[in-house]
Amino acid sequence: MANKVTIYIENKPYEVDGDLTILEAAKQCGYHIPSLCNWRDHDCSLASCRVCLVKVEGERRLVPSCAYQVRDGLKISISDQKAVDARRTSVELLLSNHSFNCQSCKKNGKCELLEVSHNVGARPEKYMGEKSESYEDFMTPAIVRDTSKCILCGRCIAACKKAQGIGILSFQNRGFNTIVAPTQNRSFNNVPCIQCGQCTLVCPTGALMEHNNIDQLDEAFRQGKTVICFAAPAVRAAIGEEFGNKIGTNSTGKLAAALRRLGFYRSFDMNFTADLTIMEEAHEFVERFTHGVPGPMLTSCSPGWINYIELNYPELLDHVSSCKSPQQMFGAILKSYYAEKHNIPKENLFVVSFIPCTAKKYEVQRPEFEKDGIKDVDLALTTRELGDLIRRNGIIWNRLPDEDFDHDLIGENTGAGVIFGVTGGVMEAAVRTAYNMITGEEMEPVDLMPVRGFEAVREAELDIKGTKVRIAVTSGMINAKKLLDDIKAGKSKYDFIEIMGCPGGCINGGGQPYVHPSLLPDEDPDIWYTYRQKRANVLYEEDRNKPLRRSHQNPDIQTLYKDYLGHPGSELAEELLHTTYNKNREQYPDPKK
Ligand code: SF4
Ligand code: SF4
Ligand code: SF4
Ligand code: FES
Repeated sequence: MANKVTIYIENKPYEVDGDLTILEAAKQCGYHIPSLCNWRDHDCSLASCRVCLVKVEGERRLVPSCAYQVRDGLKISISDQKAVDARRTSVELLLSNHSFNCQSCKKNGKCELLEVSHNVGARPEKYMGEKSESYEDFMTPAIVRDTSKCILCGRCIAACKKAQGIGILSFQNRGFNTIVAPTQNRSFNNVPCIQCGQCTLVCPTGALMEHNNIDQLDEAFRQGKTVICFAAPAVRAAIGEEFGNKIGTNSTGKLAAALRRLGFYRSFDMNFTADLTIMEEAHEFVERFTHGVPGPMLTSCSPGWINYIELNYPELLDHVSSCKSPQQMFGAILKSYYAEKHNIPKENLFVVSFIPCTAKKYEVQRPEFEKDGIKDVDLALTTRELGDLIRRNGIIWNRLPDEDFDHDLIGENTGAGVIFGVTGGVMEAAVRTAYNMITGEEMEPVDLMPVRGFEAVREAELDIKGTKVRIAVTSGMINAKKLLDDIKAGKSKYDFIEIMGCPGGCINGGGQPYVHPSLLPDEDPDIWYTYRQKRANVLYEEDRNKPLRRSHQNPDIQTLYKDYLGHPGSELAEELLHTTYNKNREQYPDPKK
């Protein structure tokens, strides 16, 4: 617990924690100071934007409130006229080198720069002059970069380096020509970017965003395709935030209702194939483990993580489960079992996933997931794009009733499927089923508490009727690196490791709604540190309330195996639900390719 100190804001005394910055302390006391470059979650405190300047008694100059720690007796004025003018000038200077097309900019409505500009009363034309040269990168399927909208806050640099340990982005060039870019201003396609989108989550403007693909969905409807969609577990834990719901609101019912109103032939819950993934993955683990294949086995459902291992540790790819991700399994099942049972020509089926993840946009177009010109999944849209789609279709989210997803041959799901959306959930679900596969009995209690939470690495040694299984869970590539180095050095003590690309897992995927301090001035000041837990709680609560909590108990999965696949790991299951990885991806591909 930090020491309490008394500070004075506008001459009023407040008791606050002594380790806070003025910006944070002010928020706790009910004052919102504009800020742009600050991002405490990744310890990004360049104090470069100067939009948070305040007056502190005794200081000759105005101070950036984001980088100034409180102390006992500190006297602060936010409303000091010089501070008010300086904050406005700082924003006006940023606007002077900004390419404005707010009407068509996909960030409009969620743009911190626009919000702060309104807040400080900035005049965009105040410092008009020459603009620096700008660059756009639309080459990857996942992320777009437009330096004309960049305010050089450095938040993306910190996210890529500190959350992922990758460090692709940096300040390039000097002075007026400074840009934030991968080395030599290469495309994200030509550097070891894993397309996780963590940089897009923190970018305050439209400079870094997901590739918006909503038009492709419109086109599929126009062509008269049979369009079927499914939504990933983590979407329900955050989509409500797009419409002003508090962080931590469970939106399963409204999500199902919204999808039904968007005109899909069927809309399913992707928890169904999370259960299917568990059947295949638990079976694969039990096979490997009981046949003494050298471990650990690594999970495979996070495409950002797969990009990372392919680019950085290709020699460890044999450790990765061959299971496709739940997204790809869903597409494969729709275009085989479902299409055959319903006599729908595969060519006419257009499959859309709603996912919390930008890397899944990359995943859907991988050659491994296409056969005879038919892709497993045709289009992946993020939670943020789903928000746009719902708005664009005039659906009033907060008036939607709670409904259920479709159940038609497939779709039933268990609590094990829903926790896939949070770090540790895949492992917990897999252990629930692996226990049954090994012993023929059910694991009790069903909850596996040691793998829950957000510590960098959680581990446990399970005793499955005398068989010891050592498991570990991590998320964010900076945390995965240590575990991978240990495997490489032959020092890993684990049998099974879950790795998710984004810190905290899919609830904090790169395509989830923004949690921006400037956009959420009324939220609980601690939300920056607690939003992951609040979203995770949604999934754990849904799991707790499900009548079935183990994937192998899912009746639609049981029928799928009985009527079609045979058994986990069967020849047909291998063909439809398993994949291979690319050991030859170049770490630094030729930028001219
Ligand atoms: S980034 Fe913001 S200010 Fe810039 S064009 Fe987009 S909406 Fe407008
Ligand atoms: S998508 Fe991920 S890996 Fe690529 S630049 Fe952004 S944070 Fe870094
Ligand atoms: S791309 Fe976005 S996050 Fe990165 S420096 Fe520019 S404005 Fe900041
Ligand atoms: S200098 Fe404080 S938010 Fe940028």
